Amino acid sequence: MNNFEFFNPVRILFGNDKIEKIGMQLNPTDRILMTYGGGSIKKNGTYERIKAALSNFSVFEFGGIEANPKYETLMKAVEVVKKNNVDFILAIGGGSVIDGTKFIAAASLYEGSDPWDLLIKNIVVTKAIPFGVVLTLPATGSEMNSGAVISRLETREKYSFGSPVLFPKFSVLDPTLTFSLPPHQVANGIADAFIHVMEQYMTFPSDSPIQDRFSESILQTLIEVGPQTLKNPSDYSLRANFMWSCTMALNGLLSTGVTTDWATHMIGHEFTAFFGIDHGATLAAVYPALLTELQEPKHEKIIQYGSRVWGLSGADLTARNVINKTEDFFRSLGIKTRLCEYGLKQEDVAPIVERFRTRGWKLGERKNINHEVVEAILKRALEPYRS
Ligand code: NZQ
Ligand code: ZN
Repeated sequence: MNNFEFFNPVRILFGNDKIEKIGMQLNPTDRILMTYGGGSIKKNGTYERIKAALSNFSVFEFGGIEANPKYETLMKAVEVVKKNNVDFILAIGGGSVIDGTKFIAAASLYEGSDPWDLLIKNIVVTKAIPFGVVLTLPATGSEMNSGAVISRLETREKYSFGSPVLFPKFSVLDPTLTFSLPPHQVANGIADAFIHVMEQYMTFPSDSPIQDRFSESILQTLIEVGPQTLKNPSDYSLRANFMWSCTMALNGLLSTGVTTDWATHMIGHEFTAFFGIDHGATLAAVYPALLTELQEPKHEKIIQYGSRVWGLSGADLTARNVINKTEDFFRSLGIKTRLCEYGLKQEDVAPIVERFRTRGWKLGERKNINHEVVEAILKRALEPYRS
């Protein structure tokens, strides 16, 4: 096991009565900015519940944070923060609103000339306005981690950043808020959380049986409750288990003491930046191809995963069967697993390969994924699904 430090200060308030108790987490004199997305919280009653819970506080609002939050939009929120001397932000939404809020929190106190530099210049973020979260879409784990992914419309770029000062002070996880999710967003969330686990687990053996079993338990739970919650959207227990699985998949626990991969995410982000494909969906369209291309270096873990998670044994326990099981799981959720299913062709992916070449990135747990390997992965991902 590698040496590690583990720190996670996020207070989780889990359950269907927790919104009403948000006030207890706040300072009575706080000037609070509510941040939210395109309006789902107004349609499903979440907005009204939160307004009621904050009725004794000074509250300002910034709505309209779009999926894959844009720097251009977030900078408008920074103005609202500064103009109103906001000292606490409450993010209400999925990964996009939470990530956007992390950027607003950091950019509002940034002393340099352009906060975009936080994303591209590896600047250490040392100050941020404190913020809390009400999660409405289980998927990213952003509610319990300190990272964020921000896009820029102008340049079609998508970059991540993070800092220990960007952990939420608290996160409300109320499974009833997810009842209104469209099925494809639930499916995206299952795929995203599944691949978060795989990015930390599907590498090489590192004498880490407890982390492996944490990972395998989350994968098994997603396989069990994911399809059921799609069929029974208002089943509280299924939504609760789905929600907690997603949070646990990316709160720092699984990556303790192990070497992580994250290549699928780095490649997937480009498909969101260039073609606007939903984050979870990009991962499902890249991962089967990546696993096929890298099946030799990842062989030991593929076999462990096939045996423990999918229950394969004997002659059935082959890398090919394990990869097919994974791809078919995504397809059973209604998610496409091939880039050609989005109408993409070789010439469409060429600018993405070129970006990896220019950046000179070497990705993956072995740093063996350069732009040529990315090209080979994408070539496989463009092939039609085996019928
Ligand atoms: O904007 P509204 O109207 O609220 O609608 C949203 C949005 O259109 C809708 N939605 C959310 N909750 C709902 C709901 N609709 C009905 N009922 C509800 N309860 O869902 C749509 C998608 O929301 P979004 O927040 O974009 O989805 P997700 O949570 O998948 O977040 C994706 C973003 O998170 C980043 C991704 O790159 C992407 O930008 N990620 C963040 C990570 C992190 N911070 O750790 C890790 C991830 O790997 C990921 O990269
Ligand atoms: Zn993700």
